[in-house]
Amino acid sequence: MYDSFNRRINYLRVSVTDRCNLRCTYCMPAEGVKMLSHADILTYEEIIEVIQLAVAMGIDKVRITGGEPLVRKGIVDFIGRVAGIPGIKDLGLTTNGILLGEFAMALAGAGLHRINISLDTLDPARYWEITRGGDLSAVLRGIEASLKAGLKPVKINCVIQNSSDEPDAAAVREFCLANGLEARFIHQMDLGEGCFTIVENGHGGDCMHCNRLRLTANGRIKPCLFSDLEFDIRTLGIKNAIEAAIGLKPKKGTSNSSDFFHNIGG
Ligand code: 5AD
Ligand code: SF4
Repeated sequence: MYDSFNRRINYLRVSVTDRCNLRCTYCMPAEGVKMLSHADILTYEEIIEVIQLAVAMGIDKVRITGGEPLVRKGIVDFIGRVAGIPGIKDLGLTTNGILLGEFAMALAGAGLHRINISLDTLDPARYWEITRGGDLSAVLRGIEASLKAGLKPVKINCVIQNSSDEPDAAAVREFCLANGLEARFIHQMDLGEGCFTIVENGHGGDCMHCNRLRLTANGRIKPCLFSDLEFDIRTLGIKNAIEAAIGLKPKKGTSNSSDFFHNIGG
């Protein structure tokens, strides 16, 4: 699939839930968020149908995100079903890692290839503060379990304020070097203000080479994180929604006033 700027679209990011077991300050507003009602959230059957059709149209790379994907019931079986769709060359998951100690082995067994784990600091008190109550030691156990399970690569997503040399990020870089992990540094973004930058050591934020579509937990295909454009698979039909999103994918992101990271998965 090519969009109108001749970018080949082969990457679908799928948010399976808007729920999360953390409340990161840069992701969730302080006053809390209204969660989607269960009826609005796509069933696994619906998501599989979207992925199958998208693969038939040229998608070969899929990443499962949230919210926190591991809080959704049945996620391991779901990953197994996605891994079994012929034509997917690359299947990844983005997680905060809190539940990975429990899930890493089963996910690898189900056919997951790679994993990205969010980790912004190695200081337990700072971690607790940034995530509004998260337990750093659980994430560290999750990282270890992922390496042991043979997931490859295990990447670490580290949100930074100004530079990857700031103390929290520098400590994360050291930790990654020492443990065979790949570090990616992501400048903290504001969807509404449309301030976004490229991801150091990653691919996000580079509009000219963007190959992505997103599926939100409530069934909207979004061509761009920094745009309000979205196409509802339940009202338009899956194929029409995908075609519309590709046809209207903006040349460059501007701003998004209707979403938070927790429902589109960063
Ligand atoms: N800016 C940059 N990255 C963000 N993420 C969540 N909110 C933001 C934000 N405002 C990232 C998380 C995680 C991924 C799911 O998205 O850190 O790595
Ligand atoms: Fe949850 Fe990820 Fe948002 Fe943190 S950034 S609150 S872990 S969805």
